[in-house]
Amino acid sequence: MSNINLQEILNSLSIEEKVGQLVQLAGVYYINQSEITGPLAKFDITDTHKFTAGSIIGVNNAKDAYAIQTEYLEKSRHKIPLLFMADVIHGSHTMYPIPLGMACSFNPELIEGMARNSAKEAAATGVQVTFSPMADLARDARWGRNMETNGEDPYLNKVLSSSYVKGYQGNTLSSKSELISCVKHFAGYGLVEAGREYNYVDISKRVLNEYHYPAYKSAIDSGAKMVMSAFNTIESIPATANEGLLKSDLREKLGFDGVVISDWAAVTELINHKLAADFKDAAKQCANAGVDIDMMSMAYLTELETLINNGEVDIKLIDEMVMNVLKLKKDYGLFEDPFKNLIDKSEQVVGNEELLINAKQVADESIVLLKNNENVLPLTSKYAIVGHHVTSRDYNGPWSWQGDISKNESIKEVFSANPNVTVIEEATKIIDIQDYEYIDTVVAFVGEKSNESGEAKSKTDIKLNSNEIELIKTLKMIGKKVITVVFAGRPLDIADIEMYSDAIVYAWFSGTKAAQSIYDILTGVVNPSAKLTMSFPRAVGQCPIYYNSYSTGRPLSKAIDTYVSKYIDQSNSPLYTFGDGLTYSDVKVTNVDLKESLSIGQDLTIKVELKNSSSMEAKEVIQVYINDLVASVIRPDNELKAFKKVNIAANTTTSYEITVNGNEFGFIGSDLEHRIEAGEFEIKVGLNMTDTINKIVRMEK
Ligand code: GLC
Repeated sequence: MSNINLQEILNSLSIEEKVGQLVQLAGVYYINQSEITGPLAKFDITDTHKFTAGSIIGVNNAKDAYAIQTEYLEKSRHKIPLLFMADVIHGSHTMYPIPLGMACSFNPELIEGMARNSAKEAAATGVQVTFSPMADLARDARWGRNMETNGEDPYLNKVLSSSYVKGYQGNTLSSKSELISCVKHFAGYGLVEAGREYNYVDISKRVLNEYHYPAYKSAIDSGAKMVMSAFNTIESIPATANEGLLKSDLREKLGFDGVVISDWAAVTELINHKLAADFKDAAKQCANAGVDIDMMSMAYLTELETLINNGEVDIKLIDEMVMNVLKLKKDYGLFEDPFKNLIDKSEQVVGNEELLINAKQVADESIVLLKNNENVLPLTSKYAIVGHHVTSRDYNGPWSWQGDISKNESIKEVFSANPNVTVIEEATKIIDIQDYEYIDTVVAFVGEKSNESGEAKSKTDIKLNSNEIELIKTLKMIGKKVITVVFAGRPLDIADIEMYSDAIVYAWFSGTKAAQSIYDILTGVVNPSAKLTMSFPRAVGQCPIYYNSYSTGRPLSKAIDTYVSKYIDQSNSPLYTFGDGLTYSDVKVTNVDLKESLSIGQDLTIKVELKNSSSMEAKEVIQVYINDLVASVIRPDNELKAFKKVNIAANTTTSYEITVNGNEFGFIGSDLEHRIEAGEFEIKVGLNMTDTINKIVRMEK
């Protein structure tokens, strides 16, 4: 650790220079191009602004970053190095599946390894901070940013958010860390009303603490030293101006001691929220609420010095904020090496074999087999392939930083290497397909384009487009076996094609090696193992729909169906639910053994016996759900509280041990404190959420 004296540096700075450390500008103000990930208002950026700003966003190569740092250190008086930040969300140049896909692996070690490899590529090409993981909980398929989340479960989200941070930084942030991890968006962004992007969020503090904070806490406890404030409101105050959220909750309750950065222009967007009258008002509110760095809004740059000079923002507060930034730079080793990650090593690192192999492994464990009637998969005989994504190469998805789709092998290139495969180019007329009467099986590659999900891509209609639905229906009507492969950044409403598809494979956007991974799964080279982490609605009218829902006072049951909680025009249940996913093997839970009584706080250890009756080894995910039968606040009918991904050999019966941490039986009470109450819990153990062996456990004081 450098023996640099941060207090001396702080004391040496003018107010203008202190404000500069709290400002982040886009790279486009220093070089002629950089990634722009938000509205770019017309700013009059002066050289003073440029050479006092503390960090830069969006520079997409090491050479430009090196040049900017060199000029900056020449021209800035204080010589405090810039930090270069970017959105490396699911890969840097070698693309991995979108996070919503990777979460389906239920494999924390795999995701940690992915993050480590992403960091290697990013660190070789000019990035020092990544705005990842996105720890937001997602429940509404209409929202475009589901693709960046780990899905709808707080426990899985907590486990995987930690994996990302450890992969990027190592076990703690230090000069050895490849990247600094900035966890986002604090907090509750995934619950935008009606699934409409940037919309109002209104959730109780209890729900915020129970469902949303655990993943941020887990990321922070794993070493994340940056947190990004969200665009949305919490209790009618935008997160970026919400002192209760950013100070009492984030810093005091969750123990965060790093740097809070706003989302892009969120500071001045207080004016649009009608919470601030002007830039000065916005800057004052956000500084006092605890936002250390203003990303691309200019409010701090143009107003903070005045606010400090007239005492509306205390210079002591500014000194704390600047010290947070200086400490981050010091911990990361930037004072020792201002050019860390800025020396171009793309030749040696980008797209190397090790990364491509890893990207393939992750895709193999992220792609979900949802349906496989009469084992129509794996494919063995002749078949045709058809659909937009056969030639699109559009497999990287949104937020794919420097991923270049032209580098992706297309489905056509990979599949047509097999003589059994006939490629039907964009079959617009069904007659094209009837010409192929000798083929009895057709694989349809359908679904979203990358630009249909991600930020600012909410939808009211989440179906496949009509010609794809028509194609699949007609294929079935002319007597073909139909395998539907769906590319998407969200759960789509695929109810229209479900009954016409003999098999359904959900490929998400699975990155650079998507085509090969899909080929290997469809042909049985890879036995699929992924499980959904977000529920799939039968109709968009069910949204938001999620597995850990509540029974209500009038639950729908087989016995009664009037005056109960239901729709008159649709089922309550999703088409596919959290934890669903098939393999080509036949694996069952054949026995579950556990203690039937526990004392409060005690862990529950469960012995689970699996039997694989097939000749194909399999990866399976043992899932443990609890149902707290009576509690002082309502509890969901199912809560995932432990999972374990296991390999089970062909034709064997094997026992595994899985532990539910004693604290997981607790919840956040009305007093906002974590509590574990005595009483009975139903413990459900299975390879999905519906087909389980259930036992009762008594929790005693
Ligand atoms: C965007 C996103 C955020 C991203 C930031 C910088 O608006 O909300 O996730 O990290 O701007 O690109």
